[in-house]
Amino acid sequence: MQRLAFTLDIAATLRQTLVTGGYNHAAVLTDTNTRRLAWPLVADALPRDVLHITIDTGEEHKTVETLCRVWSELQHARVTRHTVLVCVGGGLVTDLGGLAAATFKRGLPFIHVPTTLLGAVDAAVGGKTGVNFGGLKNEVGVFAEPVEVLISTAFLDTLPHKQLLAGYAEMLKHALLSGADALTPLLHNNLATINHQPMLDLVRESVAIKQRIVECDPHELGPRKALNLGHTVGHAIESLLLDHGTPVPHGIAVAWGLVTELVLSHLMLRFPSAALHEVAAFVRQHYPAPPITCDHYDTLLQLMTHDKKSLAGEINCTLLRQVGDPVVDNAVAPGDMGTALDLFRDLMGV
Ligand SMILES: NC(=O)c1ccc[n+]([C@@H]2O[C@H](COP(=O)([O-])OP(=O)(O)OC[C@H]3O[C@@H](n4cnc5c(N)ncnc54)[C@H](O)[C@@H]3O)[C@@H](O)[C@H]2O)c1
Repeated sequence: MQRLAFTLDIAATLRQTLVTGGYNHAAVLTDTNTRRLAWPLVADALPRDVLHITIDTGEEHKTVETLCRVWSELQHARVTRHTVLVCVGGGLVTDLGGLAAATFKRGLPFIHVPTTLLGAVDAAVGGKTGVNFGGLKNEVGVFAEPVEVLISTAFLDTLPHKQLLAGYAEMLKHALLSGADALTPLLHNNLATINHQPMLDLVRESVAIKQRIVECDPHELGPRKALNLGHTVGHAIESLLLDHGTPVPHGIAVAWGLVTELVLSHLMLRFPSAALHEVAAFVRQHYPAPPITCDHYDTLLQLMTHDKKSLAGEINCTLLRQVGDPVVDNAVAPGDMGTALDLFRDLMGV
């Protein structure tokens, strides 16, 4: 299992990691935004002339072509297996950088420095790497673990608020899978002002929950499917809005997906209505209103039926009996999903 460090002084922690790991050579991967906004917090840990590779920002650049460019730059600089690749960025940089490192010269060691909240609590932890291919997300990739993940909330100062909300949805999901002890502090957190240390404590707890789930099922054969909570509906809403030319960050769609799937949990597994209303009220207060009407239901149901998680053409969801008690692989009838979407829209006031 990869090592994790939680720190407010990221440069000092990275310097220490490089020394302890005995890495004499390093290369750095950023995207155009993280080069400008996040790299200054890290730069002191590395020599000024360190090999620096910068890729374009945006999911449309998570491609085999960008991967080839990273390999070319590593090759051009004569990088050997004694070089560690330091990936400084959100999920785009850590997914693509992890894959580049895992495959170049049969594998360079790599360190993740996630700079988005989603990266810190999700993408950089768990050993999945990948790029999009043939119109499908993360179609080409490998499971490969970074030698260390260095997590700091200092990066959140420059992160756009909607990206913060996107990461927070994954934290809500982890807490829902874990228990009330994890959920209550998240629902009482003030998202308007981020205080580094308290937020770092919440992030540490969230990462620990994900790690516990991943540890018992590293290759997603069973219990790791619990992490799909909120994602059947979330992915469908995300795809619908992308298709309409009004994309939302993945995590915002997941927040809406969580509420809908908690409604389903209530209808199908008697998930307590008090907890459902508490989570729904939080999402309604902090997240944008979902631009969904009943005219979208047919398309949403089709998208859910063709989701890669669906089994035998049925809509498949992870649901909860209680906070902290997930049940994977629930087949959901289209009529029940329609009812859940109606109740979700009521709860969101749309
Ligand atoms: N490997 C996994 O297990 C896993 C899990 C979840 C998501 N993912 C992947 O992660 C990606 C999404 O990650 P993401 O949400 O971090 O997106 P991202 O990496 O695209 O970052 C979002 C935006 O924020 C910018 N940014 C990053 N850090 C910043 C900072 N500190 N200040 C200002 N701007 C900053 C980026 O340049 C980008 O424009 C997707 O490709 C998804 O498939 C992977």
